[in-house]
Amino acid sequence: MPKPLQCPPGLFDLDLTGNTYVVTGGNSGIGLVTVQQLAKQGATVVLACRRPAEGERERAAVEASGARGKVEVMALDLARLESVRAFAKEFLENYGALHGLVNNAGVMNTPAGKTQDGFETQFGTNHLGHYLLTELLVPALTKAAPSRIVNVSSCFHDKAQGREGRIDFDDLHFDSRPYDGWSAYAQSKLANVLHAKSLAKRLGDSGITAVSVHPGWVRTNLVKSFMPVWVQDFLLRPFLGIAGMIEPWEGTQATLYALLSPEVPKHNGAFFSQLGLYRDKAANAGGFPLSSPNPEVHDDTVAARLDSVSRKLVGLEG
Ligand SMILES: NC(=O)c1ccc[n+]([C@@H]2O[C@H](COP(=O)([O-])OP(=O)(O)OC[C@H]3O[C@@H](n4cnc5c(N)ncnc54)[C@H](OP(=O)(O)O)[C@@H]3O)[C@@H](O)[C@H]2O)c1
Repeated sequence: MPKPLQCPPGLFDLDLTGNTYVVTGGNSGIGLVTVQQLAKQGATVVLACRRPAEGERERAAVEASGARGKVEVMALDLARLESVRAFAKEFLENYGALHGLVNNAGVMNTPAGKTQDGFETQFGTNHLGHYLLTELLVPALTKAAPSRIVNVSSCFHDKAQGREGRIDFDDLHFDSRPYDGWSAYAQSKLANVLHAKSLAKRLGDSGITAVSVHPGWVRTNLVKSFMPVWVQDFLLRPFLGIAGMIEPWEGTQATLYALLSPEVPKHNGAFFSQLGLYRDKAANAGGFPLSSPNPEVHDDTVAARLDSVSRKLVGLEG
């Protein structure tokens, strides 16, 4: 089994004092490690989460660890567009500039359901909530430019448990086909990759770099919608480790690389992957960056159509 990719250690010596970052889903898993590392390097980090009490607990722990930076907790529920708008308004009122937006929060293989705005749960939470958030924070990202947007996607944007990653423009919310949790996850994670690609095209001239990442198969709480986390963390952990599951610090390398490496702006719109499972086995070792084996990623018309449909769905047009 190949070893997980690591950031060059120099990236963790960068002084981020004076920089502000937003990390969605910053109370858990990959998001939490991202918050901890940025704060350690002196940054101000807005830990955006839907359970602020949980966020406060993690904020206090970061403070107690002696991190040089500062963590602020702000409420954000990506499954409610009104919460996304309220978050962005408060952020823009309180902070002038945003150096990095990490669209990290996500749910996986959830039961059939809809967000408050009537979107399929995974497409609505993982993609549309982040789509609106990003659009509303562009003024702050522009002010801080050069700045970055990192969409935390997955290798499952290519194939998820045998399901093809594709955007079904005729039935985005599974209204007319039977619901399938893995197909919905794959669709939402493909949307994360295409979203970064569109942003790079649209915002490239303003000094904002937008990319997507696959963090690896990481031991986090993501399985909770279909398996008790204790089963993963205790009962199955030795077997899953042998099968390739990695720890949260390793699973945060792709995000931190995308956010901090000086190489990344040379690859605006690209996909950066930790070890993964792809249709093209040569891609399984990952790469910073990696050319996605999913043909839809390379079809500019799909990205452009998703951009325009998403804009309308979140109420920015039409
Ligand atoms: N772990 C993996 O193997 C893996 C592999 C590929 C990609 N990813 C991606 O990595 C990202 C981070 O996941 P993780 O593995 O770190 O899992 P995690 O520990 O479950 O973290 C997910 C975070 O997203 C938050 N979240 C879920 N729904 C939300 C909503 N409606 N509004 C705001 N926040 C919400 C969760 O909040 P709560 O704590 O309140 O639930 C949690 O903070 C996800 O986008 C996931 O798709 C993970």
